[in-house]
Amino acid sequence: MQILSNVALGVDKADIVISNGTLVDVYSGALLQNYSVAIKGEWIAAIGRNLERTKGKDTYILDACGKIIAPGFIEGHTHLNYLFSPENFLRQSMAGGTTTIITESGEIIYTAGLKGLLQLLESWRAQPIKVYATIPPPLNLGKSGRAIWPSIAQMKNLLRREDIVGVGESYWQMVLSGNDHLPPLAEEALKLGKTVEGHTAGAHDEKLMAYLAYGINSCHEPVSVEDVLERLRLGVFVMIRQGSIREELDAMVKLKDMRIDFSRISLVTDGMDPRDLVKRGYLESAVQKAIDLGFDFIRAIQMVTINPATHFRLDHFTGGIAPGKHADIVILPDMQKIKPEYVLSKGKIIAQHGKLLVPPRKTQYKLPGLTKLPKHVSTPSLIIHAPVSGQNKVRVMDMVTDLVSREYITEMPSVTGMIQPDPDRDILKITLLGLKNKIVNALIRGIGLKDGAVASSYIWETYGIIAVGTNDNDIAKVINHIIQQGGGIAVCAHGSITTELPLPIAGIITSKPMSEVAQRQNEIQREVERLGCKVPDIVKTISVLPSAAIPFLRITEDGLIDLKSGKVTSLFATS
Ligand SMILES: [Fe+2]
Repeated sequence: MQILSNVALGVDKADIVISNGTLVDVYSGALLQNYSVAIKGEWIAAIGRNLERTKGKDTYILDACGKIIAPGFIEGHTHLNYLFSPENFLRQSMAGGTTTIITESGEIIYTAGLKGLLQLLESWRAQPIKVYATIPPPLNLGKSGRAIWPSIAQMKNLLRREDIVGVGESYWQMVLSGNDHLPPLAEEALKLGKTVEGHTAGAHDEKLMAYLAYGINSCHEPVSVEDVLERLRLGVFVMIRQGSIREELDAMVKLKDMRIDFSRISLVTDGMDPRDLVKRGYLESAVQKAIDLGFDFIRAIQMVTINPATHFRLDHFTGGIAPGKHADIVILPDMQKIKPEYVLSKGKIIAQHGKLLVPPRKTQYKLPGLTKLPKHVSTPSLIIHAPVSGQNKVRVMDMVTDLVSREYITEMPSVTGMIQPDPDRDILKITLLGLKNKIVNALIRGIGLKDGAVASSYIWETYGIIAVGTNDNDIAKVINHIIQQGGGIAVCAHGSITTELPLPIAGIITSKPMSEVAQRQNEIQREVERLGCKVPDIVKTISVLPSAAIPFLRITEDGLIDLKSGKVTSLFATS
């Protein structure tokens, strides 16, 4: 760093000087008027009111004209490994001012194992902005899905990589009930000075503490001010979500006036859906929301800069504007408008007025689609055989929200020895096709389809395809179509595929541009609504049904699982 030192002294000259702005000092929490920033290569060499000594004949002067000079934004928790390619995500998001991302990586591991993870890490390497990953323990509810997960030894080795900053989220219930991967991985991560990301939705008091005792040091699941305070007091780094899966800022508005230390709070998206990315933008939209709600400007900026940088131990080179730090900088028009006029990442101007000047590095996936499924699913394999003639007591997955399902016991008649979906009662068939040719058929209420079927190979924590439909012919047709494509999301009505989004890369990713992905998603939702669907996002609803992240009755390749007991439960109820 001798060269930076020389620039600071005026002996060498800067490549870029951003002059005459209001600098957001995230370290002491101040706004510094009439400040300039001298940049050499990828790094900041000096800041101050008079940097004339750093200017040479080749120095590019970027006049900030009194506008806001803030650090580039850091996303502390997201999921960038499904639906879209890293390249297309970066193309869509970088102009918004995010210059560092920490992403979970589980989705690709569930469908493509270690090979998938390594290819994804390679695709994030050497991009115009920095992308780091966290690697989670396996969270499959079904047992056979674990077959393609890397071993504990392999995961421990991965933790040594510079681009892996910690252990990814693990559900507290699974850890307390004995997840064998988490304790050794957490121990290794802590030994290496890395983080262990948490997921404490609904945990309080002794259960929360019992989970944290494994070395868990963050949580992005608080849904109330009380949740935030409880976690802060227990030493947990808190991430408030404002993205596609949840938007918590409205519920957190009381925080802004509380006399608490904000340095261990950050703002994250936990993933942005392509439709939201195209419409709202990325992390900058979360910061904008915080500002609109009246959060203090400097605190809002700290929540997406120095705070996550410190949590992930990246603050020695990013998260703030100071000598020796990466020149990751946004120039904002004012304190009300989080729409960068310039974005600099690693010393390069990568975007100007929303236009990308430096494209992401092209990457080529060599991952096949879902090849471990049967070539064809027959309609007889979808039959639910009735144990008795006449009425049968069945356990139905009842959607109490678009994501939460509970048990609903009802009677359904045997029709020629079979239990058939009953769209009039809004009871449909749900089928999960998993690894090792496992097919589980069950019943679901609350989707609303009156006709046809919909299926997806993008599923939380599971390898396979999930389908919901009104009849076996359409369910078989849509599953077989997705098998042929190697993966995807599709709708079938009267034996014909009416709309689809193929996901041929690892069964969960397409190389199509983000706007086209968003358009296909809209078409799929419109089509299921035409067929009677009443949930706002059918793919989100069905893709989470195998996950332990959301209660209570879930479907896995081992059968229905009641999360209250953690055990497999029969489709047929005895009482
Ligand atoms: Fe997450």
